[in-house]
Amino acid sequence: MNLKEKISEFPNFPKKGILFRDFSPLLKDPSALSFIADEFAKHFHPKDIDLFAGIESRGFLLACILATRYNKGMIMIRKVGKLPGKTSKLSYKIEYGQDTIEIQKDIISKGQKILICDDLLATGGTAKASAKLIEKVGGKVAGFAFIIELTELNGIKGINQYNCKSLVKY
Ligand code: PRP
Ligand code: ADE
Repeated sequence: MNLKEKISEFPNFPKKGILFRDFSPLLKDPSALSFIADEFAKHFHPKDIDLFAGIESRGFLLACILATRYNKGMIMIRKVGKLPGKTSKLSYKIEYGQDTIEIQKDIISKGQKILICDDLLATGGTAKASAKLIEKVGGKVAGFAFIIELTELNGIKGINQYNCKSLVKY
């Protein structure tokens, strides 16, 4: 299946100079959803994963799709201030600004293997910060799953020590 032809483009969103790649049409298409799950299932072995972590907000969607497919659970890496209880935080730069992410401190048991999921890899700031956060609370990063990778921003350089898979490259 050609996923690229289903991804929409919006120039100057959410800021001038950004070409926004929108995966909404893929979510709407049940055959695209099962194709996406199949492609990742070919790449990541179930024995290497205990939990899927979704990065707020679009990453939650991929993490849930894959957790269901692998019959495993998912956890949330959220934007700051949204998770109850004791948390760990990290600030980082994104393609169009600055953000802070947060995770619940006791959501991961020591040594659990976590596959981090997001819709898109741009500068890699979010992905790198997510890996640091998982490791800070005692997890092991099993790898990264992205639907889209913007290769010219070279986000992969910050996470290339991990097993990374993206389905559509620009
Ligand atoms: C987008 C995207 C990734 C991140 C990638 O999220 O979903 O999480 O930016 O950028 P980076 O590689 O430069 O760090 P955004 O912050 O727009 O949040 P959203 O998923 O809630 O729309
Ligand atoms: N997140 C960061 N950069 C993006 C882009 N160009 N399109 C969609 N989501 C993004």
